[in-house]
Amino acid sequence: MSTERDSELSFIRPDVRAMTGYTPGEQPRGGRVVKLNTNENPYPPSPLVLEAMVSAASDAVRLYPDPMASDLCRRAAEVYGVAADQVLAGNGSDELLMMVLRACVGPGDAVAYPVPTYSLYETLVQIVGGRAVSVPFDRDFVLPVDGVVELAGKVTFVCNPNAPSGTVTPLAVIDEMASRLKGLLVVDEAYADFGTSTATELIERHPNVVVLRTFSKSFSLAGLRVGLAFGPQPVMAELAKVKDSYNLNRVSIAAATAALNDLDWMRANVEKVRRTRARLTEELTKLDYDVLPSDTNFVLARQPGINQEAVYKMLRAAGVLVRYFDLPALRDALRITVGTDEEIDALLAALRAAR
Ligand SMILES: Cc1ncc(COP(=O)(O)O)c(C=O)c1O
Repeated sequence: MSTERDSELSFIRPDVRAMTGYTPGEQPRGGRVVKLNTNENPYPPSPLVLEAMVSAASDAVRLYPDPMASDLCRRAAEVYGVAADQVLAGNGSDELLMMVLRACVGPGDAVAYPVPTYSLYETLVQIVGGRAVSVPFDRDFVLPVDGVVELAGKVTFVCNPNAPSGTVTPLAVIDEMASRLKGLLVVDEAYADFGTSTATELIERHPNVVVLRTFSKSFSLAGLRVGLAFGPQPVMAELAKVKDSYNLNRVSIAAATAALNDLDWMRANVEKVRRTRARLTEELTKLDYDVLPSDTNFVLARQPGINQEAVYKMLRAAGVLVRYFDLPALRDALRITVGTDEEIDALLAALRAAR
């Protein structure tokens, strides 16, 4: 149905007008909240990162940054064991997802992924006028490989470990899938540091695999917006053509490079998160939740058949923010970010008090 507003906005693409747009997790400003809703790291970044940021925030900001963030890509190549021309930096891995779609997907082209997964994929596909096609995971979040391959996407996204389930698909399965897919396979490894597996080695064996990493989670840099893509050099060269010309700023480049120079700091934080994750899982189980095994910095806690919206609202009123998804497959679940031990104690106290 066309409205008066539609005719006023006739210069906007009809499919954009029909979109709802992405709804990011709530980012409260001020006030005291226990923020366990958007999978940020509860621990600060390395002091080396803060030093590098201060030194980059100089008069040099009158000059444009390095368009290819070459220092960062060189350091990332050393750390992740790939060649420098197999690395591309993005303004968050969200921008790298968009670059993939801009480069590969035209109006009506299929983009495939299993669901539920990272909900931004759908919005980005809509923005480029593509066609999002999906196949459901089962209750245990086993990747439906045949179903995904049959969707024959020009691009296939596999979030591994998956969000919001936290579950991981073994490398051998991803490897086999890459062989069977004709299109590009993008393995979104935003949470890989909290688990044990990565598909980075596949970029040497498959011409159609891109692996994405982010500094937002394990490196505690969500506010700076830096991500990395690893892929075969010819693919990276094509993606580079469609990026924003100066997509990373000077401060972000310096910070991410410094973060890669203090991996011990990141690994120590990851270890703390893993320990708290184990305790959180145990305590939630005692509170009658089924908790999926998580390779991430969050857990998906379910009470089969019991809608969790009231629990989400109760927690919110108690000053604890978690994520509730109003989707058929997820209404009986809460996604809870692993915070500090004190934050998790506050969550558990609120859950116990409500029993
Ligand atoms: C699966 C997944 N991919 C990508 C991102 C976004 O990462 P970035 O902050 O690097 O854009 C997120 C953020 O929550 C995520 O959950």
